Amino acid sequence: MKASEAAVAEAAGRLRDGDVVVFPTETVYGLGADTFNDTALERVYELKGRPAANPLIAHVTGPDQAQRVVAAWDDRCSRLASSFWPGPLTLVLPRAETVPDRATAGWPTIAVRAPDHPVALELLETFGGPVSAPSANRSGRVSPTTAAHVAGDFADIGDLLILDGGPCAVGIESTVLDLCGDVPAILRPGAVSAEALASQLDRVAVAAIAAQTHSPGTSSRHYAPQTPAELVPRGGLPARLVLQREPVVALCLHDAEVSEPHRAIVMPGDARGYAARLYTALREADAGGVTRILIEEPPGRTGLWQAVRDRLRRATEREPLDTT
Ligand code: TXA
Ligand code: MG
Repeated sequence: MKASEAAVAEAAGRLRDGDVVVFPTETVYGLGADTFNDTALERVYELKGRPAANPLIAHVTGPDQAQRVVAAWDDRCSRLASSFWPGPLTLVLPRAETVPDRATAGWPTIAVRAPDHPVALELLETFGGPVSAPSANRSGRVSPTTAAHVAGDFADIGDLLILDGGPCAVGIESTVLDLCGDVPAILRPGAVSAEALASQLDRVAVAAIAAQTHSPGTSSRHYAPQTPAELVPRGGLPARLVLQREPVVALCLHDAEVSEPHRAIVMPGDARGYAARLYTALREADAGGVTRILIEEPPGRTGLWQAVRDRLRRATEREPLDTT
């Protein structure tokens, strides 16, 4: 439903009643429940089919609400919040004792972020407390960046309230920054880049994929389409297509390289445009009835491209090349 003032008020009422609601953020849509309501949190896991060991992000209006769920808020947190909140940066901090186990999958830490979307902020304000929400997709599916994506994933759930706030401007999930260790560590790259974080912190580490068991949702194959997808080196698409007998959908920068029976989805050449389009493109490719998706390696490597490359790597990590 269109996110009118009345719809947001209804959503806040549902959160108060212990129900779950879907709301837009600048990154992807979230499936939210009251952080302090065990039963409601349970429903989020059940609806998503999310593994019980994967903790949730608590969404807050800002530092005041954040401090209700974390046990320690230091100068670094204030600095990061004033530079990047509301925005696509999630901070992992020691959790407050009052937070139920369910909200963090039993972990001693909690992830918090203030989303940069007027509807999300209005919902959090009206509800008056933190809202725990994973991306509003069924577990293992591509994150939703429109209300229609969510409605498609949860078509069998009749009474799910989905606040439609239009397409998500950023389009990929937030940067997850772990502030619990000696050196702040990026567990998941996002639109707040390592370079941007380095301007506010003395040191920033990027956790190796192997070390990211620390953040279960960052496991490989987490952001993948259903159809096997393969990353093709830049400029390598024509040569790769020669080997391809069955029709494919190719996410590429120039459609001139793709001809019948294959189909091209032309991606923007700038990182912001690319990220905003990526999950819709993967969903379109998935719906294309082909047995393989080819993704041309994008042009950049730094800043937001790093996060885009991270998602592409996860989306394409599967079985070895099959050219039949
Ligand atoms: O942009 C986003 O972050 C979106 C929107 C809805 O805010 N949310 C999102 O949630 O992507 P989800 O649940 O799909 O991903 C949350 C990520 C997972 O990788 C999870 O493992 C990690 O954050 N995470 C959550 N709590 C954590 C914690 N206490 N310690 C380490 N990682 C945590
Ligand atoms: Mg997710």
